[in-house]
Amino acid sequence: MTDDLLFDEFELNGHNLANRIGLAPMTRTSATDDGHATDRMARYYASFARGGFSFLVTEGVHPDATHSQGYPNQPGLATDEQAAAWERVVDAVHAEGSPIFAQLMHAGAQAQGNRYGYDPVAPSAYRPPGEMSELYGGSGEFPEADALDADGLTAVTEGFVAAAERAVEAGFDGIEVHAANGYLLHEFVDPLVNDRDDEYGGSPANRARFPAEVTAAIDEATPDEFVVGVRTSQAAVTDEERVWPDGEETAAALFGALSEAGADYVHVTGGDATAPEVPDTDRTLAELAVEYVDDVAVIANGGLGDPENARTALADGSDLITLGTGALANHDWPDRVRTGEPLDELDPSIVFQPDASLSDAEIPGDD
Ligand SMILES: Cc1cc2nc3c(=O)[nH]c(=O)nc-3n(C[C@H](O)[C@H](O)[C@H](O)COP(=O)(O)O)c2cc1C
Repeated sequence: MTDDLLFDEFELNGHNLANRIGLAPMTRTSATDDGHATDRMARYYASFARGGFSFLVTEGVHPDATHSQGYPNQPGLATDEQAAAWERVVDAVHAEGSPIFAQLMHAGAQAQGNRYGYDPVAPSAYRPPGEMSELYGGSGEFPEADALDADGLTAVTEGFVAAAERAVEAGFDGIEVHAANGYLLHEFVDPLVNDRDDEYGGSPANRARFPAEVTAAIDEATPDEFVVGVRTSQAAVTDEERVWPDGEETAAALFGALSEAGADYVHVTGGDATAPEVPDTDRTLAELAVEYVDDVAVIANGGLGDPENARTALADGSDLITLGTGALANHDWPDRVRTGEPLDELDPSIVFQPDASLSDAEIPGDD
């Protein structure tokens, strides 16, 4: 034990984490056109491990070569060649001493680019509100996504499992199932998108079923020590105000089902992880996760770049926290906080100009 919660060690499914601070998944659209991770991405990810992040979650990675890709130049784990390309990233991060988990993301209706054929799918026919993000290579309105039928669901699950198996081969320490932020698996949980009348729609338990089935299938197909996490949220990229209308009931059903499915962690995200954002309760989403998971680690994310907020999330019961923008501004956030050095603010002119792809100035050695 240290006298700072942030720097206590933690054991996650047999992995000894040096502190409670991880890198949040962040899409950077910097892979090759055919979805291969690059040496530059290896230097980018390794810099966070060198700066003290005790575990890293990659950007969203498309699992299959059909409907899952979300963004142009998004890396994949849909082919053996894409998996082999990740080895340079995994090795560079391991050389700095941190485990790395691949975030498996099926973009669902929020897809805004797909080199295998642009034909989005969702739980039900659905068009996301607003326009695509030009920062991530999209433009104009989203097309209406088609509803998945039973064969489509099977294909999605098989795609996730095959990608997880490739992640094992590439040397990843685990995967994170992306069931947050309005992408496919979140669209099942969200009753404003999912109006299915089969066993995957309707009640909170039904809406939790498909993400839980995908998680269980991955857990069965991968080694015991391989970490299987799941990310959840209320809000969507295309609707930041979105909440679960039956808040706590959805939380109870989802976190319960993910526990039974064998998840090693749930990673909950929202605008402010320390604020109650779930309808009809004064608890945070992370606190609800802590209450309703069974023997599963809870990771809190959202607005925790101020160390005091991060400590609050841990004091409120989360086991771990992750940082997105705070990490982009300070690749060595954990080391700076531990040694009392000041933190930098995020400079959007570096990270988001002209788009969200990696820029020279943010990668040590490339400027
Ligand atoms: C550039 C960027 C890309 C992101 N891409 C992803 C992603 O691929 N998968 C995901 O689950 N969240 C993604 N997010 C959300 C972050 O993981 C995180 O939830 C969000 O930034 C809030 O945390 P923060 O307040 O620490 O920044 C992204 C955020 C940013 C800033």
